Amino acid sequence: MEEKEIYKGLAGVPVDYTAISKVNPETNSLLYRGYPVQDLAAKLSFEEVALLLWNGELPTEAELAEFVAEERAGRALDATLKGIIDTLPTDGHPMDVVRTAVSVIGAQDPETETNTPESNLAKSKRLFAALPAVVAYDQRRRRGQDVVAPRDDLDYSQNFLWMAFGEEAAPEVVDAFRVSMVLYAEHSFNASTFTARVIASTTSDLYSAVTGAIGALKGALHGGANEAVMHTFAEIGTAENVKPWLDDALANKKKIMGFGHRVYKHGDSRVPTMQAAMERMIAYYDRQDMLDLYRTLAAEFVERKGIHPNLDYPAGPTYHLMGFDTPTFTPLFVASRVTGWTAHIMEQNASNALIRPLSVYNGPDQRELP
Ligand code: ACO
Repeated sequence: MEEKEIYKGLAGVPVDYTAISKVNPETNSLLYRGYPVQDLAAKLSFEEVALLLWNGELPTEAELAEFVAEERAGRALDATLKGIIDTLPTDGHPMDVVRTAVSVIGAQDPETETNTPESNLAKSKRLFAALPAVVAYDQRRRRGQDVVAPRDDLDYSQNFLWMAFGEEAAPEVVDAFRVSMVLYAEHSFNASTFTARVIASTTSDLYSAVTGAIGALKGALHGGANEAVMHTFAEIGTAENVKPWLDDALANKKKIMGFGHRVYKHGDSRVPTMQAAMERMIAYYDRQDMLDLYRTLAAEFVERKGIHPNLDYPAGPTYHLMGFDTPTFTPLFVASRVTGWTAHIMEQNASNALIRPLSVYNGPDQRELP
């Protein structure tokens, strides 16, 4: 076999520059376009953060007002798309529905093949506005509920929750939702973003790249972990059961979902901000039992393995308390990360090189057919 170094999983390999976000595991910090993510989560709407990611600068008041109006106009679930979603089974995974919806939106868009920066920004905004209706409606139809029409007087986060549940959410709940959207939006060359960039690098269209990214996000080692955290909580039940459950899980070499990260080894920079929003919400719902379980599992696992929680750990219980069904958690991640994915697709297009690594062959030597 050829002697070549293999970078399994591309771990530690820089493959390109990006000006969109900076992850610094040494200082445990994450910057979007130079701004600390915790500051963005404290002060900005998700709409403002989306514009920052796409454009590189904070929007002016006029730019924001224009985008907000555009987003509100693009919120309603398209009738054709609704009809296609209705044909899909209600016992399949909601990520399959979101992936299909993006394909349909792409197939419907006459601009799909127009791979210019202006056209791709317009597509990014279109997906941003359309995805909440898809995610909310899919959950409702699984519950046997009718579609809820969007409301123009509500912002992105308020309206998302309105379309999902048909009632106005409390400020603590809206705030935790907004914080989760801001924190999930972007994280450099993670697996789904890299997938999107690989697809964009072939000069394929933005919708194809986003569809591929959704497939990559679905897995439990990536976005699927927020859903898996809730399965773990359901299995454990209460804080008293953490120790015996963990003894058993570790004896069976189980991975504990919502812990560990390829880049952060001393804690995920986003966790304290998400956890604080989750705690405000837990106080609102008066669910100290969930906080006890959350804290006990985190403390016990960190003590035993030195592996810290990642963003999915506080996001899972946050979405659960809001009333989302567990399989809907990763589609919520999609609604947020679509901003980062599309920013990266546009960045890839602006300075493209086909992404095509090498492999080292370790199969049989050349041989003759029998
Ligand atoms: N539970 C138990 N053990 C773990 C965990 C975990 N969550 N995470 C890492 N480890 C252990 C591994 O078993 C491995 O141990 P070993 O060296 O004895 O074999 C060691 O730590 C290194 O783990 P790897 O999986 O090789 O490290 P990698 O950098 O590839 O892992 C990953 C990162 C995939 C996220 C991993 O920590 C994991 O599987 N976590 C659970 C899934 C999860 O929460 N994913 C969400 C990621 S963040 C996000 O998408 C927002």
